[in-house]
Amino acid sequence: MSLLDLSPVVPVVVLEDAADAVPLALALVRGGVRIIEVTLRTPAALESIRRIAAEVPDAVVGAGTVTAPEHAVAAAEAGARFLVTPGTTERVLGAAADTGLPVLPGAATVSEAMRLAELGYAELKFFPAEASGGIGFLKSIAGPLPGLRFCPTGGISATTAPAYLALPNVGCVGGSWLTANPTDLAGVERLAREASAR
Ligand code: 3PG
Repeated sequence: MSLLDLSPVVPVVVLEDAADAVPLALALVRGGVRIIEVTLRTPAALESIRRIAAEVPDAVVGAGTVTAPEHAVAAAEAGARFLVTPGTTERVLGAAADTGLPVLPGAATVSEAMRLAELGYAELKFFPAEASGGIGFLKSIAGPLPGLRFCPTGGISATTAPAYLALPNVGCVGGSWLTANPTDLAGVERLAREASAR
């Protein structure tokens, strides 16, 4: 199954404390969201991935913000089941591919998307979505790049997500709004339920 088909909304999570990881993942799963992208932006990120992978079998946990080859290796060792990059360099993409995990590489321009398509990637993260043209950009490239599907991320909200999800070349959207308050578990569960109902 494609990463883009696991959930209409991929929660992009920033965790400062690994102790919050398992309760947060359980709240998301209760709300119907099984996929979780833990960004490698905090010292707690790898331990958070490790705990979710070990303790929440119903969740599919991956690593986001993979911006260096060593991130990809460390995330795979921690138990990440997929990798997401905000943009693409040869070294990062090579290291990510070498892990054998599914990779969602980031692109923000037509040329970047074409380069990734040449390398065999048909599903891309479109980042930063709102700042790079948003819905208009995705509509414009659907004709020339018909083989590509996107997970737009960056600046998307519960309000704007439905219009993105209505586009034929969008499989899911990513966003941090579900988990902006990672310790408000009832709130996370409610937002997840709303997001998964789309
Ligand atoms: C990401 O890493 O994908 C973004 O930072 C998420 O963007 P958002 O916070 O605007 O949803």
